[in-house]
Amino acid sequence: MENLDWKNLPFGYIKTDYNVRCVYKDGKWGELEVSSSEYINMHMAATALHYGQEAFEGMKAYRGKDGKVRLFRWDENAKRLQQSCEGIYMAKLPLELFRDACIKAVKLNECFIPPYGTGASLYIRPLLFGSGAEVGVRPAKEYTFVVFVTPVGPYFKTGFNPVKIAIVRDSDRAAPLGTGVFKVGGNYAASMRGTERAHDAGYGSPMYLDAKEKRYIDEIGAANFFGIKDNTYITPKSSSILPSITNKSLIQIAEDLGMKVERRPIEESELSTFEEVGACGTAAVISPIGEINDLDSGKVYTYCKDGKPGPLSTKLYETLVGIQYGEIEDKHGWITIID
Ligand code: PLP
Ligand code: COI
Repeated sequence: MENLDWKNLPFGYIKTDYNVRCVYKDGKWGELEVSSSEYINMHMAATALHYGQEAFEGMKAYRGKDGKVRLFRWDENAKRLQQSCEGIYMAKLPLELFRDACIKAVKLNECFIPPYGTGASLYIRPLLFGSGAEVGVRPAKEYTFVVFVTPVGPYFKTGFNPVKIAIVRDSDRAAPLGTGVFKVGGNYAASMRGTERAHDAGYGSPMYLDAKEKRYIDEIGAANFFGIKDNTYITPKSSSILPSITNKSLIQIAEDLGMKVERRPIEESELSTFEEVGACGTAAVISPIGEINDLDSGKVYTYCKDGKPGPLSTKLYETLVGIQYGEIEDKHGWITIID
C-alpha cells in the first residue's frame, strides 16, 4: 500500500481488501467465508440491533525488523470472547475458529500490515453478534462472527507521551454486578457520555470510579489503570472492569523486571501518592498519564512534571513492545508468528 502515510495513521477505520465471516445456525458453526464487502446483510429483528447481543475483541499484528508478522496472546483474546459469549448468552466460538479467522484476515490483507519502524500496526477486530430474529428479550438462535482488520496509529494522539485524564462522576460505564467484565458493545454505549464529557473538557479519556461508592478507581475509557510507587506496580481489582490482556502481561513483565505487584482496590485519594501512573490496553499500549482532573471536585493530580514518561513506565513499555515486535525474547510463549 504505497499511498498510505504509515507514520501518521490515526486510530481509525481504513478499508482493507477482505474480511472473514462465519455463521452459527442449527446448533453449529459453519465454514469460514472470505468476503470483500464491508457490509453485512442482516435481519432487522436481529438481537444485536435491539438488545445489544454483541461482543468484540481487539488485537494487533506487528511486523518486526526481521519482516515477520507476529500476533500477541491471541489465545487470551479467544478465551475472553468465550467469556463474553457466556456473559450475554451467545453461542460460544471455538478457540481454533477464532485463531484461524484472525490469521486468515491478516494474511489476506498482508499489504496493509504497516512496515516496521512506523509506529503503526494492523488492528484486528473480531466481533460476534446475535443475527437471528427475536422480538421477545431472549438469546438469538443464530449468530455471526466477523473479523476485519485495519491499519492503525496510536490510540491517543499523544502516543507514548503524557495524556490528560478526567474523572467523571455523573455517569457510570458498568454496574458492580453488570457486564463490565465482558467486552460487550453495551459497555461502550454506556461509556460515551463520560467520554464526550472528558473530550469536551479537553481531556484524552474519562476515568471511571466504581459505580457503587465512587471511591475506588475502575478504569480509563478503553484501558486499564496502573500506578507505580516504591518499585511496585499497582492495578485495580474490581468486578466491573475488563480483564485487560495488556495489563496481565505488564504484571508478568513487572515481576520479571524485579518489581512487586499488587492487584487490589485503589482509592481515588491514593492517586496523590503514585510516582507514575498510566493507562494500558491493546489500542493504548501504555499511555503515561500527566494529569488526572476530578472534574466535579476540582482536585487535580499531576505527574511527569518534566513532560516525560517516568522511568519504570518507560521500561515496561519498551519491554512489552520489544516482545511484540520480536526484539526481546518471548520467554512466556506469548507470540505466534504468522507464516
Ligand atoms: N478496558 C477496556 C474497557 C477496554 O476496551 C480495553 C481494550 O480492549 C482494555 C481495558 C484493555 O484490554 P486489552 O489489554 O486486553 O486490550
Ligand atoms: C482495544 O484496546 O482493543 C480496544 O478495545 C479499544 C477500542 C474500544 C477502541
